Amino acid sequence: MYNDNPTINNLKDKSVDESRQGEALDLKTPNTEGGKKFYIESYGCAMNFSDSEIVASILSKEGYSSCTTFTDADLILINTCSIREKAEKNVRQRLRVFDKTKDKKPGVLVGVLGCMAERLKTKFLEEEKLVDMVVGPDAYRDLPKLIAEADDGGKGVNVFLSREETYADISPVRLGSNGVTAFISITRGCDNMCSFCVVPFTRGRERSREPFSIVAEAQDLVNRGYREVTLLGQNVDSYKWKNPETEEMVTFARLLEMVAQVDPRMRVRFSTSHPKDLNNEVLYTITKYHNICNYIHLPVQSGNSRILELMNRTYDREWYKERIDKIYEVIPDCTISSDIITGFCTETDEDHKDTLSLIEYSNFILSYMFKYSERPGTIAHRKYEDDVPEEVKKKRLTEIVDLQNALSLKSNLKDVGETFEVLIEGDSKKSADEFRGRNQYNKMLVFPKNEGLKPGDYVFVKVRDVNSATLLGDIVKHHETFNA
Ligand code: SAH
Ligand code: SF4
Ligand code: F3S
Repeated sequence: MYNDNPTINNLKDKSVDESRQGEALDLKTPNTEGGKKFYIESYGCAMNFSDSEIVASILSKEGYSSCTTFTDADLILINTCSIREKAEKNVRQRLRVFDKTKDKKPGVLVGVLGCMAERLKTKFLEEEKLVDMVVGPDAYRDLPKLIAEADDGGKGVNVFLSREETYADISPVRLGSNGVTAFISITRGCDNMCSFCVVPFTRGRERSREPFSIVAEAQDLVNRGYREVTLLGQNVDSYKWKNPETEEMVTFARLLEMVAQVDPRMRVRFSTSHPKDLNNEVLYTITKYHNICNYIHLPVQSGNSRILELMNRTYDREWYKERIDKIYEVIPDCTISSDIITGFCTETDEDHKDTLSLIEYSNFILSYMFKYSERPGTIAHRKYEDDVPEEVKKKRLTEIVDLQNALSLKSNLKDVGETFEVLIEGDSKKSADEFRGRNQYNKMLVFPKNEGLKPGDYVFVKVRDVNSATLLGDIVKHHETFNA
């Protein structure tokens, strides 16, 4: 999944944004009045946002409490993304702003975390003089040590990727949380080598987290009132864990079932599925449990088999179509979303038309759409020329976005008059008199509040009006659990 903003997940044209804007994350940590304060800003995919919660947990044990204004902080952290050039530019711009704070408050430490830290390593310290720490995604346990070194006037770097680290024993401190939906990381890293992608270099080999710690985390969330979890990984369907005692293999389908059984009131989502690994067992598991959402994010990247081969996606157009057919056969009401890269090396107008036709065939409710951005060190950078002119990339992107918006609107129009079970996530963005929440199909609904209802409650909402991003409706009844 590359979900720029998975919790918001609006169907708007947000999908062409480079990455989710940095966000100050509010942290409810134990009371550490008078102690040191940290501020963390996260960019990139949901995995990074989830990692920031692990970082918060590590720091809270060191007596740090969070703040939401960086000028108040003793430690400023920026959790970075390298996926496209623009994502990295955003981070550099942000660092210029932090520069000014450092001028005013000399004791403040600035740390760069995440994928850009791993990609640039010590080069970061050479290029960005104000940065005190560079910490890669597998090295967050070292943060206290690196902070101590930096406090002593040194510069701390740890960017070694690990084959074992899953942070399974760290209980994330939920940041900026709505108290209803949460992410649970189930794998780290990626073993696929999509030729355009920097992630295998910044996040290392794939590791699956021990399943009982995942179930325990889900149980803990339910106990604290959460009602939805999203299982996260670059390629969740390749999750596998062998029980060292029984030799039993836990597959993704089995894990999904284990998490679904934690509590029928808790919805389960997952992201991202890779078309080569999404198997029928997963589809049957989705149908078996009411609380597993009938929604799959299945990035296609391109609709042309030659381009897919150059991308090293290991499936072709026909394979993808077969997966789509199977999803709609097993789960007829399932909604599907996608990621698309336009203007990859050697892509012709005809190849581009194949992408348009596959989007139409698949009937995606939403896509995250990007112009190809060459990343240093990737296979595509080494082997192929980034030869599609910028104007052509732009034009093709516009065509893809227009088509996707039309499909999103068409899909939403079909929902007018329908009633959906919706989990209330909080106030709507526009008005405190309205709630917002999603149905299982990952569509956002906005509806007037009813007395006595609160985030975390389920309600039935009848759709009255739509646009391409949102369904507008009215509550017709509410209940406490799925099965009530
Ligand atoms: N693991 C996920 C994707 C993670 S990256 C998967 O395989 O689906 C999120 C998305 O960013 C990708 O799906 C792809 O559409 C896009 N992306 C990755 N590298 C890119 C690049 N070099 N240029 C443009 N978009 C890219
Ligand atoms: Fe990147 Fe491909 Fe791995 Fe996704 S599956 S993270 S696109 S290498
Ligand atoms: Fe995610 Fe960006 Fe890294 S998409 S894995 S934060 S490069």
